[in-house]
Amino acid sequence: MNAIRLDYGNFMAPRLPGGVDASELSAAMGSAFETALAELSAWREEGRLGFLDLPYASDSVARVTELAGRFGESFDDIVVLGIGGSGLGAIALRDALLGPFWNQRSSEQRNHSPRLHVVDNPDPHTFRALMNQVDPARALFNVVSKSGATAETMAQYLVVRERLDELVGPDDAPSHFLFTTDATDGALRQIGKAEGFAMLPVPDNVGGRFSVLSPVGLLPVAACGADIGALLSGAAEMEQRCRSNALNSNPAGTLACLMHNADVRQGRPIHVMMPYADRLRSTALWFQQLWAESLGKTTRRSGEEKPTGPTPLAALGPRDQHSLLQLLMEGPADKVVLFIAVDDPGATVLIPHRHPEVDALSYLGGHSLGELLATEYTATAEALRRAGRPNATIHLPAVDAHALGQLIMLLEIATVLAASLYGVDPLDQPGVELGKQLTYGLLGRKGVAVPEIPEVDPRWVL
Ligand code: PA5
Repeated sequence: MNAIRLDYGNFMAPRLPGGVDASELSAAMGSAFETALAELSAWREEGRLGFLDLPYASDSVARVTELAGRFGESFDDIVVLGIGGSGLGAIALRDALLGPFWNQRSSEQRNHSPRLHVVDNPDPHTFRALMNQVDPARALFNVVSKSGATAETMAQYLVVRERLDELVGPDDAPSHFLFTTDATDGALRQIGKAEGFAMLPVPDNVGGRFSVLSPVGLLPVAACGADIGALLSGAAEMEQRCRSNALNSNPAGTLACLMHNADVRQGRPIHVMMPYADRLRSTALWFQQLWAESLGKTTRRSGEEKPTGPTPLAALGPRDQHSLLQLLMEGPADKVVLFIAVDDPGATVLIPHRHPEVDALSYLGGHSLGELLATEYTATAEALRRAGRPNATIHLPAVDAHALGQLIMLLEIATVLAASLYGVDPLDQPGVELGKQLTYGLLGRKGVAVPEIPEVDPRWVL
């Protein structure tokens, strides 16, 4: 089974001075959890939580596999154009499953799979550099937008489309695109239909930040040979584990209750995710969006207006021991840390015995870099515990597709349960709308008024 494990001992009293009592966990948190799980089940019944069904969507997976095989063989580069939930999931899967320096490897080293670029920001400098790097005539552009209207992604599409029309001609250009978008609605769907582009649907009830296990995240890595079957089977196993209505056997419930409790009862609203594996750095960034956009809300579902939500922060160990750890140890006691530790680091790099006469180096000889990483995680978790700073760890047997599928599903379910505990809707993001409307107005979108932005008093500009 190779199940991932959640170790939350460093949240609990008396192990953690001032930590959570076992009785509190089973009583107050236990009953809040039951309500949250019931709410999750009701949302699922209403068909709102499509992400829970993605591991079982065999028709969609078959279509992804078919297109991935075709495109993976035909192109040297796959370029994903998508932002937010339409970009971060693909980046997380790419980095975890394809590993470092994928695009710098030779074709043989990549098993003749394409390079994979995810351009999730429309910075023209990056964009031009990429377009100079890849040969558009040998590239597939996977335009990913659930709404089919996001300004950044649509702008990137327009630039690439023009370039391809010039390079390969308007008749061939469509064969260089794959649109991943809403199954029925949106401008992208309309264009795709009218011009006969290849398209993959994002299920109606799967929102951007919950879409990583849909064609949004699956297609790009499947085209590069990643094992999406193992990813989805890991996710399915976790989905089933998290059906348990006993808090002490439900990892998503336990995580949600502890993080929520840390924020609202212990004054710890900053939630740091710190993997000890470079390949999981982007998973922490993906989680940052999931936790922030799902939980940061002004209006509760009860109608009460009360800004709420924890602040997630993505870190990386051991690197951030030399950056953030001082603050985590001695700064305000307003943080919890969620470590991700990996049993098998994936490579053995032995540290040789050199300079036996130098104490600062000689103790390292005979250990491995993997041991160093694991020991530093253990030491950091223990140092935080001794300082009374709550921390928990998700242990992965390895960074592989099966473990990653479990991790993703665990964090997604924990997010929905946490939303229920906070009393907010995890699936909307009304706070990003105003900025979008202002952008549309400023850029002259039809039907949107040009906004008035008050002049800044020159005294406030230095
Ligand atoms: O999680 C979300 O819903 C957002 O981050 C969206 O993914 C993001 O705004 C991009 O939207 P779209 O996929 O419609 O282009």
